[in-house]
Amino acid sequence: MARQPESASGQYGVSDALLQALSECKTRSVDEALTLPPAVYVCDAFNRLEINKLFSKEWICIGRTEEIREPGDFVTMDIAEQPVFAIRQQDGSIKAFANTCLHRCAKLLKDTRGRGKLRFACPYHAWTYDASGSLLRAPYMDKTQGFTTEGRQLTELKLDIWQGFIYVTLNADIDYKVSDRLGDLADVYGRYRMADYITFVHDDELWNTNWKILVENFIEGYHLFKVHRETFEPISPTSWQTPHPGHDAFTYSTSKVKPDRGFCVTPETNTHLEGEWRETGSVACVFPAHLIQITGDFLWYMSIQPHGAEQLRVRRGLAVAPERLAQEEDHERFYEETKQTFDRVNLEDKTAVEAVLAGAKNQYAQQSLMSVHETTLFDFGRYLARMLTD
Ligand code: FES
Ligand SMILES: [Fe+2]
Repeated sequence: MARQPESASGQYGVSDALLQALSECKTRSVDEALTLPPAVYVCDAFNRLEINKLFSKEWICIGRTEEIREPGDFVTMDIAEQPVFAIRQQDGSIKAFANTCLHRCAKLLKDTRGRGKLRFACPYHAWTYDASGSLLRAPYMDKTQGFTTEGRQLTELKLDIWQGFIYVTLNADIDYKVSDRLGDLADVYGRYRMADYITFVHDDELWNTNWKILVENFIEGYHLFKVHRETFEPISPTSWQTPHPGHDAFTYSTSKVKPDRGFCVTPETNTHLEGEWRETGSVACVFPAHLIQITGDFLWYMSIQPHGAEQLRVRRGLAVAPERLAQEEDHERFYEETKQTFDRVNLEDKTAVEAVLAGAKNQYAQQSLMSVHETTLFDFGRYLARMLTD
């Protein structure tokens, strides 16, 4: 549902020159690929186009199934600026709903996460719903002629699960499942059994950059030697990063990791990762903005939503492989120390991507050829061009 009327050109007022520059991503080969036209990072009209043509239309990751294990456990998120939630049902399935009261539209669940909400009341006039979205009670409405709670339901949204991740879409017409478009990626990521990883950090943050700048930063290993010189580069150097470009719905790269650093090491008790995969990590983006980094011991994910052109909201999760957690006696201490390490890397990235936005505002900002270690950006550019300029 496009809530904002399209302009006559159908492109929300984005200039033809910008759309033309973006559409050229579709025709260049990977060898001659350019970085994106800088205006796509700072243009409000372009942001509106993305909200309506990407975030309102695509499957969006809102969390992991193991984060809502019990009936009534829920997670909320705004997708394309519209509040939604997913909630575990009594029968163990998960359903997603518009997070909007049937009375006068108040947002029902305001917390990002919650436990055991088998019934919940609207904060405004206490209309009360159960986990299946049924309206149970509506105070003082018995005197309203013709009103009944019978058969009144929150709007259910389409939901899909891929390798432990929950995806929701606002697009009622979507006719494919997440997995339908992730062939190669399912092969690579299936090896890690990432649905079994246990999440111990999840939070949401607002960053001062465009959402695409963070996506691009996450999926390219070119910046490791500079931005993460002391943190990640010693474990998995830039020169080892191998992008695997050429995919429509996702992009990914793999890299060997150094097993003598004590981090990104597959535990010996893990017997399902085989051969060189025991010392290989991977980074992926399921388009538009679900980012995954996995090794035999940790899973790091982000799901990003634009917050205007110049800010983003990022949902972050950090999970540990069960075999790795079993090596630790004091789980709380292990969680805290691991979080500190990831927070340090995260801060290095945050500083970098906020600087990119600052530079992209410059009238002299321009497109460039790219390094062989960042050709995942080629896939991302083609995806944007296909979705936004066709
Ligand atoms: S808006 Fe929810 S009960 Fe009135
Ligand atoms: Fe980084």
